[in-house]
Amino acid sequence: MGYKVGIVGATGLVGTTFLKVLEERDFPIDELYLFASARSAGKQVEFRGKTYTIEELTERSFDREMDYALFSAGGDISKKYSPIASRNNVVVIDNSSAFRMDEDVPLIVPEVNPDAAMKHKNIIANPNCSTIQAVVPLKVLDDRWSIKRVVYSTYQAVSGSGLAGIRDLEDGIRGEEPKNYPHPIAYNCLPHIDVFMENGNTKEEEKMIGETRKILEKPNLPVSATCVRVPVKHGHSISVNVELEKEFEIEEVRRALSETPGIILMDDPSNNIYPMPISVEGKDEVFVGRVRRDESLVSGLNLWIVADNIRKGAATNTVQIAELLIREGKN
Ligand code: A2P
Repeated sequence: MGYKVGIVGATGLVGTTFLKVLEERDFPIDELYLFASARSAGKQVEFRGKTYTIEELTERSFDREMDYALFSAGGDISKKYSPIASRNNVVVIDNSSAFRMDEDVPLIVPEVNPDAAMKHKNIIANPNCSTIQAVVPLKVLDDRWSIKRVVYSTYQAVSGSGLAGIRDLEDGIRGEEPKNYPHPIAYNCLPHIDVFMENGNTKEEEKMIGETRKILEKPNLPVSATCVRVPVKHGHSISVNVELEKEFEIEEVRRALSETPGIILMDDPSNNIYPMPISVEGKDEVFVGRVRRDESLVSGLNLWIVADNIRKGAATNTVQIAELLIREGKN
């Protein structure tokens, strides 16, 4: 038996990847509905050899029967249309930041906190792309050695800003002015993702802090983050410094990470082997390398974590959440 699935933002970078991932993973679909703005209404899209027509998203879009709606059209669209879908008994899996910190909305990475998804009230949030790839290995460390503090420094690809980010990088290489970012991203780094908050952090940094605490169920965990946009098209990288409660053996850490489904340990510096954005493009796993002791702490560890931000950081994680609900009979 298949499901009736809607995709909101079906023409976007994440939306088109939803379709690719659903197809690759043989997700059981009986009916597929594709929504975008009025600009795209009428466009045709191929899925599993069939042609589908993009519809304009309206308040009536969820009047029909639908099991799941995967949203990736920005926070404002999610805020307006997710409650409508949810009232019509559609389970929304939302890729925006609109509901992530709501107490009533589970924030799910299937390898990390699958049980939390079972309490959903028709809206489940997909975490921020950088948070997803960070918490997969952090959960392994927390279960074994208990995490005491985390410091993140990110190197985030322009595809995290959607097609507009990619355009700014490509135009910038040709010497054109940026339209999406406040400064050129070509040949540059911007320590500025999303808006600045009163405390000096950006909203992206606040997302990583709050979402890490929520997903790991450690509401008081000290977390610090600096998020940087770099001129890379696909793949976010994060340098993660972790302080652990318990003493660890570095080989034990390596073994624990390499034995965890969803993680690929890529850590052989003597042969120049470590994860890089270009080596993870199109992959669904989280890649970890440069695993080493931080000698400035009693029980400190450094990790370099890389993943495809559009796949594991967005589309794949969303589809995995839907698969989890189906497995657990919680659609
Ligand atoms: P459209 O292509 O019609 O503008 P990205 O961030 O990769 O550019 O993708 C944004 C996605 O959100 C696109 O699919 C875009 O559709 C969709 N979107 C933007 N505004 C709206 C809207 N008002 N209603 C529905 N979908 C929207």
